[in-house]
Amino acid sequence: MKTTYINEKVKGIMTEERFIHTERTMDIALKIASCYDIAKEKVEISAILHDCAKEMPKDEMKRWIKKANITLDEIEEKEPGLWHQIVSAIIAEKDFGIKDQEILQAIRVHSTGDADMSLLAKIVYIADYLESWPNESIMQKAKENIDLALREVMIKKINYIFNKSALLHPMSVSAYNYISLRCIQNR
Ligand SMILES: [Fe+2]
Ligand SMILES: [Fe+2]
Repeated sequence: MKTTYINEKVKGIMTEERFIHTERTMDIALKIASCYDIAKEKVEISAILHDCAKEMPKDEMKRWIKKANITLDEIEEKEPGLWHQIVSAIIAEKDFGIKDQEILQAIRVHSTGDADMSLLAKIVYIADYLESWPNESIMQKAKENIDLALREVMIKKINYIFNKSALLHPMSVSAYNYISLRCIQNR
């Protein structure tokens, strides 16, 4: 009931293309989640809302960020592409009434990643990537060993950023080091 309502509301605030991405991200996330002990509803809500502010005009995003008393760091100031994960988490809380901190955090880090990500955050991060860049081998890995899959996706995303000569946010650096240490320790 809750997810149906959220789904309908999200559909009304984004383009068809973004909504298709949202639904496909949710399907992929649920496939990965089926291999783990995690609440299906949390996965659905996080995936449905992860890009809810993606298409919001920049000045409106800035207003939400200011209203939430969030100060953008130097990298975020220069890379508007990093704003939507912040604002999507704000909208999820303020407009959709989501109080679950784990869901809000999964939305908040779905693009950069971060150190110490929850299983939910890892699933959303990987599903979001795989929706745009399908990869059977990573999908299989995600079902068997989420950390290995996460690290592989992070390396691909960081390489993409380097190839564009764009700025790499410190959260992505922390995320990469965190997951690499975990993979080394569990070898
Ligand atoms: Fe996104
Ligand atoms: Fe996305």
